[in-house]
Amino acid sequence: LPYALEELVKTGVGSVMFFGIPDHKDACGSGAYDENGIVQKAFREAKKQFPDLYCIGDVCMCEYTSHGHCGILCGHYVDNDRTLEVLARTAVSHARAGADMVAPSDMMDGRVAAIRAALDENGFVNTPVMAYSAKFASTFYGPFRDAVGSSSNLGRSNKNVYQQDPANGNEALWEIGYDLQEGADMVMVKPGIPYLDVLWRVKEEFKAPTFLYHVSGEYAMLKFAAAAGAIDEKKITMETMICAKRAGADGILTYCSLDVARWLKEGYEY
Ligand code: PBG
Ligand code: ZN
Repeated sequence: LPYALEELVKTGVGSVMFFGIPDHKDACGSGAYDENGIVQKAFREAKKQFPDLYCIGDVCMCEYTSHGHCGILCGHYVDNDRTLEVLARTAVSHARAGADMVAPSDMMDGRVAAIRAALDENGFVNTPVMAYSAKFASTFYGPFRDAVGSSSNLGRSNKNVYQQDPANGNEALWEIGYDLQEGADMVMVKPGIPYLDVLWRVKEEFKAPTFLYHVSGEYAMLKFAAAAGAIDEKKITMETMICAKRAGADGILTYCSLDVARWLKEGYEY
């Protein structure tokens, strides 16, 4: 971890999102809020070695649950309200370990309010919340789910009852509105490039700090096409970033960040 972070810092990447993959998963995802959990340890180490690196915690259960869902299961559905308590506890554990900001990605209703209240009660009044607000039930998350193991754990189960319908753009605005009202400091649209119309609408409607998540499947498509010699990786990646900015992104979460920072440092111009 310190080696990877050092490379990012040297190249000019200013902020990093942390995800944890625990050794053991259980039904209630207890690894997510363990004070000595993998991600909590990572925050402590990162802030010790790179105090100026802005560290963001992805707050969700699915990397930690044996069933791969983003919340606590009750029979065949995710129990929204029981999940809120666990998410709040997880967010506080991140802040306590040194996270500068928390980013809930679970898509439960009411989680921003629950997390905000828990952070405040525990003295983290200045820890902002970046909400994954318009998060669609997308197949573009495939490589991420393979990496964290939630793909095989989910089996034939899906997240369609809490993540959004890709065919429904209006619902994204509802979700963003709720999260801002509950106290989100920034909102996010996810996935990225196939959802730029949503990003544009969100920015036009709310004028809030809005991030775009260029997700694992999008990254994989670029990398595999480049490896096959089908595209010019550098130009297409930079075009992708520029298009996200054009559509209204104030910031972009991307696995291409190290590449992009390197190319920018070399003085690349599109
Ligand atoms: C966890 C989470 C996911 C992603 C980010 N946070 C996966 C999911 O919702 O199943 C996807 C990231 C990516 O594909 O790059 N809730
Ligand atoms: Zn999740």
